[in-house]
Amino acid sequence: MSTTAMKASSSASTSTPVAHNALPPPSASTAARSSRIAPHSHIKGLGLTSEVLAAPDGAGFIGQTNAREACGVVVDLIKSRRFSGRALLLVGAPGTGKTALALAVSHELGVKVPFCPMVGSEVYSTEVKKTEVLAEAFRRAIGLRIKETKEVYEGEVTELTPSESENPLSGYGKTVSHVIVGLKTVKGTKQLRLDPTIYEAIIKEKIVVGDVIYVEANTGAVKRVGRSDAYASSYDLESETYVPLPKGDVHKRKELVQDVTLGDLDAANARPQGGQDIMSVMGSLMKSGRTEVTDKLRREVNKVVKGYVDQGVAEVVPGVVFIDEVHMLDIECFTYLNALLESPMAPTVILATNRGNALVRGTTDIVSPHGIPVDLLDRCLIVKTDGYSQEQVGKVVQVRANVEGLKLGPGVLERLAQEGERGSLRYALQLLTPASILAGLAGRNHIDVEDIGEMNELFLDAKTSAGNIGGEGGFDGGRMW
Ligand SMILES: Nc1ncnc2c1ncn2[C@@H]1O[C@H](COP(=O)(O)OP(=O)(O)OP(=O)(O)O)[C@@H](O)[C@H]1O
Ligand SMILES: [Mg+2]
Repeated sequence: MSTTAMKASSSASTSTPVAHNALPPPSASTAARSSRIAPHSHIKGLGLTSEVLAAPDGAGFIGQTNAREACGVVVDLIKSRRFSGRALLLVGAPGTGKTALALAVSHELGVKVPFCPMVGSEVYSTEVKKTEVLAEAFRRAIGLRIKETKEVYEGEVTELTPSESENPLSGYGKTVSHVIVGLKTVKGTKQLRLDPTIYEAIIKEKIVVGDVIYVEANTGAVKRVGRSDAYASSYDLESETYVPLPKGDVHKRKELVQDVTLGDLDAANARPQGGQDIMSVMGSLMKSGRTEVTDKLRREVNKVVKGYVDQGVAEVVPGVVFIDEVHMLDIECFTYLNALLESPMAPTVILATNRGNALVRGTTDIVSPHGIPVDLLDRCLIVKTDGYSQEQVGKVVQVRANVEGLKLGPGVLERLAQEGERGSLRYALQLLTPASILAGLAGRNHIDVEDIGEMNELFLDAKTSAGNIGGEGGFDGGRMW
């Protein structure tokens, strides 16, 4: 993340009511583990040329050239903002890379375009209405880039001296009457005399000498940007962010760009506004559940946003909502989706499903392709993913093995490719990790064909398991036990 982007987002909590509480960085071991286990971590993008042509493999994606090119066109349309209010539907058999394609699209769009993934079944909550979940996802997929010019004091803290005086109101203790802060930039240093409330903010942000901070001149908000890199230590891994000494004067006008989504703004404004008194603190503790964002609130937020856009302060960045397993939505959700798609500020919608003809959920008699009512289907561009050849399965397995850091012995790839063709690509991929454990137990650092064979005896693929089930739908002629 660039320094400006970081500052922009960290300023969010002060200039707008949007909280940007960054999660603490994951520890090295969990980060390594999650990146290894995440099933799509080998997918880095669609792997297309600048003419939107798909090479047989690229960016971790093997084959599926038609679907990748189709998604490439959609990415171009989204980037040039000509795809809003429309939907792309990815259909195909299980394990043919639909979810992978959607994630590749998000990679291609970059971090600046909001991408909001969800699974169809997420709408079923006991607390929030189904349609509300959808509406919220749509709001989270519309970004707002706010540009502000602010007068700020920025620099590395060289001095931090609170100056205390007797408290006239109580006999005991002292209060801080003002605080002297020295700030240094490449160009020079400046000593500021600041209000005691700013000193509280300094303590809250845990600012010490050697940190790079900035203070907004008109609001007095203080932000810690990071530690000055003059203080950088020689550890390879640390949670601290080191930043260079700011350039220019200590006192300057600064352009801040900040990316939020309409969903962020709704949520921030729906939260009970915490007052100072004890009751409101208790109230906010007890109301820790989700508060519903009403339509009225959304309209208010829209009005404010429109004002910003008209003034040229903000720019709307329509993003993407991705609804995986879309057949899990029911008829109410589908009609609501139609309406959402037609609203003036709609993001692009990507849907994925592996169903053929299916009953539309929530109805008893409407069977339609992919379990999606025809009126919504009519609004979709449909892209089909194809099955994989044995060779392609082999390539995907190889890519995965590389990502997971597994070595394959002679013949293993061919064997897994066969398994993949007989069972499914997922099954072949799933055999990798347990086989590597077996290899480790045998004291080898590579997987052998015998490991795969043994795994095959222990585990069943979906087709074999289906074959084992008797005609009456149970084991051993209908009896389960
Ligand atoms: N063409 C491909 N190149 C590389 N990896 C692939 C490709 N297709 C699928 N994969 C990988 O195979 C696994 C299964 O694919 P994915 O989850 O995308 O399937 P899906 O079509 O979404 O299936 P389902 O309908 O069951 O949800 C994932 O780990 C995915 O990253
Ligand atoms: Mg999927």
